[in-house]
Amino acid sequence: MANPRWVFVLIFISLHLYLGSCLVAASLEDSTAQQKLDKVLELPGQAFDVSFAHYAGYVTVNKSLGRALFYWFFEAAEDPDSKPLLLWLNGGPGCSSIAFGLAEEIGPFHIRPDGKTLYMNPYSWNLAANILFLDSPVGVGFSYSNTSSDLLNNGDKSTAKDSLNFLLKWFKRFPQYKDRDFYIAGESYAGHYVPQLSQAIVRYNKATKAKTINLKGYMVGNALTDDYHDHLGLFQFLWSAGLISDETYMLSNVLCDNESFIHSSSACNGILDVTSEEMGNIDPYSIYTPSCSANSRQAKWLLKRRLMVGQLSEKYDPCTEKHSEVYFNRPEVQKALHVLPEAAPSKWETCSEFIYTNWKDSPLTMLDVYHELIQEGLRIWIFSGDTDAVIPITSTRYSIDALKLPTVSPWRPWYDDGQVGGWTQEYEGLNFVSVRGAGHEVPLHRPKQALTLFKAFLAGTAMPVAASGSRQLISDS
Ligand SMILES: *[C@@H]1O[C@H](CO)[C@@H](O)[C@H](O)[C@H]1NC(C)=O
Ligand SMILES: *[C@@H]1O[C@H](CO)[C@@H](O)[C@H](O)[C@H]1NC(C)=O
Ligand SMILES: *[C@@H]1O[C@H](CO)[C@@H](O)[C@H](O)[C@H]1NC(C)=O
Repeated sequence: MANPRWVFVLIFISLHLYLGSCLVAASLEDSTAQQKLDKVLELPGQAFDVSFAHYAGYVTVNKSLGRALFYWFFEAAEDPDSKPLLLWLNGGPGCSSIAFGLAEEIGPFHIRPDGKTLYMNPYSWNLAANILFLDSPVGVGFSYSNTSSDLLNNGDKSTAKDSLNFLLKWFKRFPQYKDRDFYIAGESYAGHYVPQLSQAIVRYNKATKAKTINLKGYMVGNALTDDYHDHLGLFQFLWSAGLISDETYMLSNVLCDNESFIHSSSACNGILDVTSEEMGNIDPYSIYTPSCSANSRQAKWLLKRRLMVGQLSEKYDPCTEKHSEVYFNRPEVQKALHVLPEAAPSKWETCSEFIYTNWKDSPLTMLDVYHELIQEGLRIWIFSGDTDAVIPITSTRYSIDALKLPTVSPWRPWYDDGQVGGWTQEYEGLNFVSVRGAGHEVPLHRPKQALTLFKAFLAGTAMPVAASGSRQLISDS
């Protein structure tokens, strides 16, 4: 029975399997080792216990040039093994996802005005998912390049490429998340980053004939989508909210017609200066809340988040951006987050004006990317805070209309605790949700409603309707 040839083959196969599993074990061990090194053990100013682990560090995205992206990853507050994974991106271009997304929007840790102590965000999105914050591209936050000329050459293409490299390597470091349902979300100029990275992932998966990254969908808020329609909606909003004169409304439509948002002509910039002057020292990112009067810079840098911001559990504080500037420049905080002293910026900034002013390619529209990704069957949601005057709800509605998608479920209000939380309309391949009374950073202004929105997005369900009792009231009256 025992044919010697078969025995040989069997020995060969088992040796092969044995060696193979050794290799897998070794690489798992490597990644677990790096994971362990990245674990944040003690965070200055955190005087409370948390139920979840979190990790911070770098992933090298281009070895020869010495480019590395900085991340901070939070496991879900409960049962991380059963929860999906979300990557969150802020825009600018040049703004840090850790400064905004983490420290004032969806992250678990927010910073008090002393710039030293932290408090828990009761509506952190890690109640629903594992969340990964990425500072991108190089030159933003703690992300860096050892080739200094790189900082002059950032653009949409290189950002998407580096972010894809980041993800491929990050999943090797955290193999337990490799096959997890994966989503991407972000706001503002991340209206470019998020669909572009999604497209890069979909194309990578196709090219490698494997579901290397298990991308299920994406969501963007107050997102730059299509420069022509976004400008049209911008001026209409400024005028109808009563922030600019009739003359300026007319002129801005003429002078900024079909201009790039990022690279606009001097004539368009000129009229933008006028709109900014006419608006006065309000916070354009949230037109009905106080502005941070300690800093009354004009809103020339339209996409960059100016100094505003607030707190959730306490009185609204429009100056939160200042608190994170203090906190993240503390040497002991940088040490706790494994920031390399030799690669740390001389001064950590929430947004880098240098990156913004040197930005290269920025396509005029994302609509073609939407068409491609809708075809791929990704879950795509667009939300909008309706008191933002930077990328207002009118811009978003014009841009969505330009996609010419059939309506699946008509415009209707959605409810939160019996109150209208905003409005929603479902299209074929895309869901739109507005959040009433929220500014540019929806989760900052309406944290509870934003978490409701995130949970609905993950579940792929419609936004909540009114309780049947309150509907009854309306039809009775
Ligand atoms: C690193 O950057 C250089 C220059 O942009 C590029 O030619 C090279 O392909 C990049 N390497 C990787 C791994 O992306
Ligand atoms: C960049 O240079 C520093 C200092 O030499 C070095 O420690 C670091 O590993 C380099 N980073 C990359 C991504 O090569
Ligand atoms: C806008 O500009 C682009 C190129 O800059 C051009 O292809 C397009 O036709 C223009 N659209 C309108 C409405 O003028």
